[in-house]
Amino acid sequence: MHGDIASVQTAIRPSIANSSWDQPQFPGVMRESSRGFLGRPTLSGHRNGKAWSTKFEVTDFHHQANHVTVTLIDFHAELEVVITFDLDVHGVLFQRATVKNIGESQYCLNEFIHWLPLPKEATQTLDFAGRWSNERNPQRKEIATGTWVRESREGRSGHNFSIADIALTAQTSFQSGSAWATSIAWSGNSHYLVEKLFDGSQSIGAGELLLPGELILESGQTYEAPALVSVYSAEGLDGVSAAYHSYLRARDVHPKRPRPLTLNMWEALYFDHDEEKIKALIDVAAEIGIERVVLDDGWFHSRRNDRAGLGDWVIDPAVWPHGLSPIIKYINDKGIEFGLWFEGEMVNPDSDLYRAHPEWILHEADRVPPLWRHQLVLDIGHEGAFNHVLEQTSAVLAAHNIAYIKWDHNRVLVDAGHLGAAGVHRQTQAIYRLFAELKKRHPGLEIESCASGGARIDLGVIDLVDRFWTSDNNDALERQTIQRWTAQVIAPELLGTHIGPTHGHQTGRTLELSMRATTALFGHAGIEWNITEATTEERKHLATWAQYYKNNRGLLHSGKMVRVDYPESHAYLHGVRAHDASRALFAYVQLTPTVSVHPSPLKFPGLDESANYVIKAVFPAGEPRFMLIAPPEWMNGITLSGSALAAIGVTAPILAPANAFLIEITKA
Ligand code: GLA
Repeated sequence: MHGDIASVQTAIRPSIANSSWDQPQFPGVMRESSRGFLGRPTLSGHRNGKAWSTKFEVTDFHHQANHVTVTLIDFHAELEVVITFDLDVHGVLFQRATVKNIGESQYCLNEFIHWLPLPKEATQTLDFAGRWSNERNPQRKEIATGTWVRESREGRSGHNFSIADIALTAQTSFQSGSAWATSIAWSGNSHYLVEKLFDGSQSIGAGELLLPGELILESGQTYEAPALVSVYSAEGLDGVSAAYHSYLRARDVHPKRPRPLTLNMWEALYFDHDEEKIKALIDVAAEIGIERVVLDDGWFHSRRNDRAGLGDWVIDPAVWPHGLSPIIKYINDKGIEFGLWFEGEMVNPDSDLYRAHPEWILHEADRVPPLWRHQLVLDIGHEGAFNHVLEQTSAVLAAHNIAYIKWDHNRVLVDAGHLGAAGVHRQTQAIYRLFAELKKRHPGLEIESCASGGARIDLGVIDLVDRFWTSDNNDALERQTIQRWTAQVIAPELLGTHIGPTHGHQTGRTLELSMRATTALFGHAGIEWNITEATTEERKHLATWAQYYKNNRGLLHSGKMVRVDYPESHAYLHGVRAHDASRALFAYVQLTPTVSVHPSPLKFPGLDESANYVIKAVFPAGEPRFMLIAPPEWMNGITLSGSALAAIGVTAPILAPANAFLIEITKA
């Protein structure tokens, strides 16, 4: 291969086109106008209007195994850039970069984008769009000449944040074809770009979106760009997920304990924190087998509704006259962990904190940003505000047995100034620092990243948190799609998935318990429903389902996620297969009515072709609603080879729409 390099260089040397450079130009790792590159540069900025165009020279290069470091200096612009590439054993490529001001004057960095070239086979892109309660809708489109940009300007990654930007061939599916995926590891403003130039070259990139003047590097100061985390898969979109999930699972900080079955009391209580009601909920939770209970919004000072209290992280004696210790003891005595809700980056104008420190909000000039959910954003880049939140939160944690906190972020950042300069970058770094400090002070503390549901799910915050709240939408039918695509990057054990109420609070839809339970099983499972209102039969089903989750979470949280390329759009067939192909657990989810009487067969790729498997349907939370006289016989259990399961499959039953059931496949 080494001997090939010169020939490869010759092989890719283009012709000299009409109306073109006299010599071919090769922009290299830094895309620069000075080297004849006509697309968006890697780096842009200036020194008070000078040093506006760079021409970096490579001054150092290290290559060891799967690690490459390139050091580049531009002596005129007085900048040093160090770019590293690390390819891990799972095929995940990490691109990191620093930009150092080696001059005397200030350098204003406008942008640093990590880029990767895209081959011509990549003719499409896939990214994700969304809003509150409907996160991560896939958008697949043709790559055309020009730039396709997905920006996030909310100051948090956002409901509309594209958790990945993926280039594809026209044929790429879940199971096959090439995919080039990138994900930016940042929770503040960011942008993804797919660029196709008139010369035919195309590339994919992403970086932090810096606001005007947000990053002024003093002499000697260094900017660390958020990492770009990329994957190439020759095995379709599931190959991309498999690589991301394996990398996430191999991290030291990946949760090691089995993910506790959770009851979040938000939809059961909202702001009605009544101790007797809560005890009644806990009693049912214990009977079902719940392992962690979360007290959500409403426990702190003057927080009787969402108009007041944010910023005052002290227990409200009006609702908790004896503090939280008695209820925590009640919960712990039943062998259940306790978790508590915070939203530390926020403040209501009606709060003691705001009355004392109105200057501690992110703002510009003497303007107060428009309210959103009756709240403003606290400037935690300000040391006073940071310490206030840290100390108040820490005091609550130190005084109680709290295993877990759900940390929310319920509004966007606009006009987000810190002492007169743009403050989103600083705010993002501050929340990382705050989470790290809380974890250091309270060893074993788990943090859930929530932001009105799934508006802060990204690879930037992921090393500091143990769970993401996937969406405020607990409607299982809609959750199917939200979870399907969030798990494109995030391993399911990090995604909170709850059984919602019979009549969904977000959509008003009524769904069978079996549908809700099947959906909630494929993640860090829980319940978010007033279970004191569940019937005796429903409670029994919940208890069997809880046990089923406990018995199977080992597989669900370690195996390979499989989204079968089911030929019809009325259904999803998805599941998890053990890496040794000894078992698999699938869900057949009928979303809408079928067009034909008999839907396409259910085929299961990736099993051991020569082995025999027992396949059967299971109903830990009760049966789905069928629309047939007699279901297919295989559902009671039959033995088939791995090759028959992949090539022939089993008949799909006819279900009523919005119904689902589980399929167990076990090596005989
Ligand atoms: C956000 C969260 C919910 C809940 C409420 C509380 O919307 O996503 O789960 O915690 O805030 O106000």
